[in-house]
Amino acid sequence: MTKRKKNLKSTIWGGRFEGVSSDNLIKFNSSISFDKNLYAQDIEGSIAHAEMLSKQKIILKKDFLEIKSGLLKIKKEIETNKFKFKIELEDIHMNIESRLIELIGESGKKLHTARSRNDQVVTDFKMWIRSDLDSILDLLKQLQENLIIQAEDNYETLMPGYTHLQVAQPVTFGHHLLAYVEMFGRDRARIKDCINRMNECPLGSAALAGTSYPIDRNFVAKKLNFSSPTRNSIDSVSSRDFAIEYLSVLSLIGINLSRIAEELILWSSNGFNFIVINEEYTTGSSIMPQKRNPDAAELIRGKSNRLVGNLVNLITLLKGLPLAYSKDLQEDKEPIFDSSENIKNCLLNMIGIIKSLKINKNKMLKALQKGFPTATDLADYLVTYLNIAFRDAHKITGKIILLAEKKNCSLDELSLEDLRSIEPRIDSNIMKSISINSSILKKTSFGGTSPRLVLKAISDAKRRYL
Ligand code: ARG
Repeated sequence: MTKRKKNLKSTIWGGRFEGVSSDNLIKFNSSISFDKNLYAQDIEGSIAHAEMLSKQKIILKKDFLEIKSGLLKIKKEIETNKFKFKIELEDIHMNIESRLIELIGESGKKLHTARSRNDQVVTDFKMWIRSDLDSILDLLKQLQENLIIQAEDNYETLMPGYTHLQVAQPVTFGHHLLAYVEMFGRDRARIKDCINRMNECPLGSAALAGTSYPIDRNFVAKKLNFSSPTRNSIDSVSSRDFAIEYLSVLSLIGINLSRIAEELILWSSNGFNFIVINEEYTTGSSIMPQKRNPDAAELIRGKSNRLVGNLVNLITLLKGLPLAYSKDLQEDKEPIFDSSENIKNCLLNMIGIIKSLKINKNKMLKALQKGFPTATDLADYLVTYLNIAFRDAHKITGKIILLAEKKNCSLDELSLEDLRSIEPRIDSNIMKSISINSSILKKTSFGGTSPRLVLKAISDAKRRYL
């Protein structure tokens, strides 16, 4: 037998083969370069499976003990970079199982009783995603915490609120930051939903049909911290909707991050100058010595496309795929690993940016003095004090704005005579209605921007999220 033939005969599935795999296929088929990420889950799953087999008297206790110590040894080998991953052994499951047989012999050959790689891979994958979601939850919480700290420092810092990126109404910077706290709070809730829904254990579904051995799936599910076993063996090995949910939750986080990133980029630009992003998160230009570019924020904005791309990748992988397992499903892992790495880097950088952010309160206030931000308050004055219907008040206010534009002044720089030339019933009460401060103080409806409510929202947010 040639060396290659021997290699193939010694693969785990080589028994019915007479020929050898093409080198092209060996490379093409192998997933070890990326699914080695699953080694810890694979080992944990195998130990639970072997313990169950021994408890059910499907294998001997001695086999289980040997399997367990062999697997723990392999874990150490992997973690100290001593393990030799082989592409001809395709994936992490067969790499570990082959090494186990090499290390402990006969008992090792019993590990794969009553399971298949099909239920094994999806169990590993679920466990990996679940623990990854825990780390992402933690990062989101840290981000919220830093946003809340900044919001507390700025609960009465005035800034223009924008719609259409045009000055709309005065808001506080703290209120604006708390908008993101809410958005990331929903992202956290989505992650928890996703974990709850996916938390059923597929192991024991075997290839697709279940198994004729008297296994105890509840025992394995419990050992691996799943809430229960999956209910249908075909669904167990075919479905990847949990992975799609993971990618869709991560895409939303990425999109939310891209929006705050964009605002940070805008606010730190020369036109705005509202904030200074710490040097730690900016870079210089190779040609223009004066530049300080917000690279970290730009990359966060830019990475969000990849997260969406990975989601589309996996959704299309599943489309039209017949049940149960097909090798196409091996393609499910790279988009997940890529999104995981990128979202964590985005979150770490965003946390750093927010933590070290400097606020130029004066610049924010200056920007607020342009653009008639209290026009709506003026209309509200006409409604409240003069009993004018809102639609008419809106028209009158529009005329007053035109006048201010012609005179090149702000609303509160118009004289009472100016104002009365448009609506004679206007009285001196109007002056406090159109000042920026009174506008802010009056925004007391639930969820509004008045500093008193912002303070309350901050303490609520601490209780709800931290
Ligand atoms: N490496 C494979 C994957 O990631 C494991 C499952 C292989 N199953 C099989 N029947 N070939 O999907």
